[in-house]
Amino acid sequence: MTTFRTIPTEPIEGQKPGTSGLRKKTAVFQGHHYLENFIQSIWNGIGGVQGKTLVLGGDGRHFNSQAAQVVLRMAAASGAKKVIVGKRALLSTPAASHLIRKRGADGGIILSASHNPGGPNGDFGVKFNSANGGPASESVMARIFDATKVVSELHIAESQDIGLRTLDTLTLGDMEIEIVDPVTDYAALMQELFDFDAISGLFKSGFRMRFDAMHAVTGPYARTILEEILGAPPGTVMNGLPLPDFGEGHPDPNPTWAKQLWDEMMSDSGPDFGAASDGDGDRNMIVGRKAYVSPSDSLAVIAANATLVPGYRDGLKGVARSMPTSQAVDRVAARLGIDCYETPTGWKFFGNLLDAGRATLCGEESFGTGSDHVREKDGLWAVLFWLNILAVKGGSVAELLDAHWAEYGRNYYSRHDYEAVDAAAANGLMDHVRGQLASLPGQSFGALTVETADEFAYDDPVDGSRSEGQGLRIGFAGGGRVVLRLSGTGTDGATLRVYHEKVEEDAARFNLDPQEALADIIAAAETIAGIKARTGRDAPDVIT
Ligand code: G6P
Ligand code: ZN
Repeated sequence: MTTFRTIPTEPIEGQKPGTSGLRKKTAVFQGHHYLENFIQSIWNGIGGVQGKTLVLGGDGRHFNSQAAQVVLRMAAASGAKKVIVGKRALLSTPAASHLIRKRGADGGIILSASHNPGGPNGDFGVKFNSANGGPASESVMARIFDATKVVSELHIAESQDIGLRTLDTLTLGDMEIEIVDPVTDYAALMQELFDFDAISGLFKSGFRMRFDAMHAVTGPYARTILEEILGAPPGTVMNGLPLPDFGEGHPDPNPTWAKQLWDEMMSDSGPDFGAASDGDGDRNMIVGRKAYVSPSDSLAVIAANATLVPGYRDGLKGVARSMPTSQAVDRVAARLGIDCYETPTGWKFFGNLLDAGRATLCGEESFGTGSDHVREKDGLWAVLFWLNILAVKGGSVAELLDAHWAEYGRNYYSRHDYEAVDAAAANGLMDHVRGQLASLPGQSFGALTVETADEFAYDDPVDGSRSEGQGLRIGFAGGGRVVLRLSGTGTDGATLRVYHEKVEEDAARFNLDPQEALADIIAAAETIAGIKARTGRDAPDVIT
């Protein structure tokens, strides 16, 4: 007999989910009732889990296993029918999304702080996904947040830890727990979408690749799919062993944090193709030999070449990008005669467009690319998309990019991040720019003239909801832009993101360093926002 206990609790302040679930320092999550309060509030906010089936898994970071046990005990105590959990409580975010959809589950809990460092001094996080497999909508998250403010009791089963190391079906009280292999279903889905024969032919021809799993969850996925199924040579996957602190790394696939891969790719004798993924496997970075592919360009190239890939042979219903993402994909959409949607930052905003069949591909400048195959961005999917395109078209990544720009023009793009800035200073900076929006149009900064300036708000065309305060944008004559926003995923002070974009149509100027090509836009942003003085920083912490 399993005993269920009801434990009195009190609301804990600050459990407001951000861009992607609730993300805090690990030690905060380990605090008294912190995790329990939030899980109970998820149940309460979604109208209970009585009779429901949930998917559960995480990225393997410190506290992942213990937190999974808490979720299982609390699901059983609140009457859930079943939890499908990845072996060792592991599931990448896209694999969890797929499992929710494939099994018709009512939702899922993903234990991850994505690309933030892990470990006792790092970050932990809890995300809740809905029955469509995607991050819960803003209104659901708001109900969960409301529930955190009034939670008064916790329901939890008393039990030993459930063994999650072998594939098995167990029970906890009346609740069934099915332990599944985290990779199998996901690998099968990839096999349906991509031409695995063509990609393995590419590897047989001597094509060399490096995939940096950054000691995070994609290690086992990449080893199975790239090395075992597709026949890439052993060693193609680097940092493939998931570690609770990601080997003290920062599992964010960008030129700064995937430095080892970056250095290999920038050498003359580097591999043909490089890629990396983040903590929970939903982000990707694509890089050729001496050829960095910005995430915005990656989305545009994928869109332009989609029909070369079996799963997308019939064409795209539409595309969507987050507002700060470059407008490179807009040009492809215009050429294809399909709709292009501009949404706020956050994958959850793509869900309705995908569900309604209005968009097939989505992407964000923050190294996220995905499609309607799941309801999350998907790192390995993007890597396989590139491999499939290269296998069909031949040539190098650099040649593919050059050909793309020759056809569509190049949207130079760079994001500058100022991390852990004093929150008051960051808000002051945003207020300072907000105060200028009405007067900016018509003003000139060097050779640039402002045409438009506003604060982005999004009206969801599917459910009619409105999301305000989604970033300040300043548009220049000729298509250049500066966008400023404060990150919704940081856990330390405020992170200011400044996004710069400039359209280049002159083929002689397609191979400049983006920082040079964007110099006048970067200077205008500094003049308008006073970034150095207000943040007290001479330079950004991260440039992508
Ligand atoms: C997560 C979300 C993305 C978002 C990114 C950056 O990865 O899933 O949708 O683009 O964070 O968000 P931020 O608010 O930090 O710019
Ligand atoms: Zn992630």
